[in-house]
Amino acid sequence: MSVPSATKRLTIRDIGRMRQRAEPIAMLTAYDSVTASLVDKSGIDIILVGDSLGNVVLGYDTTLKVSLDDMIRHSAAVARSTEHALLVCDMPFGTTTDPETALRSAVEVLQQTGVQAVKIEGGLPMAPVVRRLTEYGIPVVAHIGLMPQSVHQLGGYYTHGKAAESAERLTHEARVLEAAGAFAIVLECVVPEVANAITAELTIPTIGIGSGAGCAGQVLVINDLIGLNTRPAPSFARPRADAAGLVRAAVADYVAETKGSALQTKAGAA
Ligand code: KIV
Repeated sequence: MSVPSATKRLTIRDIGRMRQRAEPIAMLTAYDSVTASLVDKSGIDIILVGDSLGNVVLGYDTTLKVSLDDMIRHSAAVARSTEHALLVCDMPFGTTTDPETALRSAVEVLQQTGVQAVKIEGGLPMAPVVRRLTEYGIPVVAHIGLMPQSVHQLGGYYTHGKAAESAERLTHEARVLEAAGAFAIVLECVVPEVANAITAELTIPTIGIGSGAGCAGQVLVINDLIGLNTRPAPSFARPRADAAGLVRAAVADYVAETKGSALQTKAGAA
């Protein structure tokens, strides 16, 4: 007799097995119930409630103003409307300053939202944080390369790993974060050769964004994928739709129809 599985959701063990059998991992952001439900039903493996929420939903110019309450509200909405994908909540700026602060924040996230894991931006200083959370039982996705929460320290948004010293630092960071317990690692805007070398060296999956096709998986911001932006998407995103165009056309049509019928009504009443 087969034992019914306790959950239909993918787990971090499923993600680990995908890595072992070299099955690419598809990850996408979502921030609200409707979008998350559509994404979930389209076969995505991991949904990330990214702190890109700040840029694409809340209208901030950086991710730095996103709060833990913002992440909890949107992660709970995503969890309520999905049943297949593994759910990951980004820990926002200022919530991972030390292992105990990070643990308290991550416990709050898991208790209040229904996500299974958190993502933590940062290199070597985040290793003790990753270790504390994973030893406590909270799965962690690490994130190195371009780290938008450190935009002021990095001095902008650009590709990492071009110089030998930068490539070596990234490789070292990836090794240390894997050893600390991360079950996956996002490589954002890392030179593809360096991303490939890291992917080959690690046992856990690398999830690339703007880091070439050689990572174990890929992640994108949903708005960049479907063309729902007021600014151009990053060059690596290759939008598959023009959702912004559809919205503009539908609204313009509605406005024209409404104003037209108002004129007809007035004309008829006169
Ligand atoms: O916040 C986010 O959406 C992210 C992805 C770009 C990896 O961190």
